[in-house]
Amino acid sequence: MRQTERLAADAAGLAQAAAILRRGGLVAFPTETVYGLGADATDAEAVARIYAAKERPSFNPLIAHVDSFESAKKQGLFDETAARLAEAFWPGPLTLVVPVAPTCMISDLARAGLDSIGLRVPAHPLAHALLEQTGRPVAAPSANRSGRVSPTDADHVLGDLDGRIDAVLDGGAAQVGVESTIVSCLGGTPRLLRPGGVAREAIEALIGAKLETGSEAGTNPLAPGMLASHYAPRAQVRLNATNIRPGEAALLFGAEPLSGAETARATLNLSKNGDLVEAAAHLFSYLRQLDASGAATIAVSSIPETGLGEAINDRLRRAAAER
Ligand code: TXA
Ligand code: MG
Repeated sequence: MRQTERLAADAAGLAQAAAILRRGGLVAFPTETVYGLGADATDAEAVARIYAAKERPSFNPLIAHVDSFESAKKQGLFDETAARLAEAFWPGPLTLVVPVAPTCMISDLARAGLDSIGLRVPAHPLAHALLEQTGRPVAAPSANRSGRVSPTDADHVLGDLDGRIDAVLDGGAAQVGVESTIVSCLGGTPRLLRPGGVAREAIEALIGAKLETGSEAGTNPLAPGMLASHYAPRAQVRLNATNIRPGEAALLFGAEPLSGAETARATLNLSKNGDLVEAAAHLFSYLRQLDASGAATIAVSSIPETGLGEAINDRLRRAAAER
């Protein structure tokens, strides 16, 4: 597919990594937990390429990495507890899930359609320098193919993703070796969504309360559609539509026209060229827009079950089933 460059951990390597990210490419980079597979979080097509490279069968919300708490506050809303956690544990292996800020630039796709955002300020000096030079939030899941173990050095990354990403910034071995702790602060008592590099006890000592656990706020990473705050269209979703019925909204894919499309209340095409990366990039915002048209049903063209089509169809099936 493409040549994956191994970039040295020096000024030239960093500058190149930042340039690749800024033009929508994929760069794996070290953090203090594991290597992340980074893309510009504000660029939905770049984010779609992450899911494609990892071969993820569904859209998990991704953690957006930023260079400072100040930068994080432009993307998410921090209540008092969230702010205390950020001040105590950032930079470091803690991810905070908070409501999106009105100024949030992070794409719907990186958030898997949620109204919340997972934010983290990594402590690794290379990650920090890369984020500073990139100057925007970087979405980064662990840099492994779906279903494989998280990589803690550049060789692991290349073993999984060579030829599928633009570059890996080689910073040697990651130190912590387990992923960040994820705590959601969406009102009420914070919840531990995933144990990780910061111990539960350290967090509980700071906030002076036990963290809630369990799935109510939603943690099943394979089922983002089940997250409590997950966006579900108000309209019914009709899959594999071969025609559009009067008053329906239409979500199309590809060049082929559907009969009745001229009567649709609103029409959007995920990708006229049938490009699944482009389609994934548009999916969540188009669903929202069509829902806002007030149509009772959104009819969706069939989408191939190949590549990113698998994750797109997974999300659409959830939208069709969520009632
Ligand atoms: O240490 C780490 O956290 C590494 C490095 C690269 O930073 N990243 C990582 O990302 O482990 P990933 O994609 O493997 O895990 C992200 C998980 C999702 O599966 C989801 O459970 C949770 O973070 N997450 C992210 N945003 C969320 C949100 N808005 N609501 C709930 N969970 C969220
Ligand atoms: Mg992972």
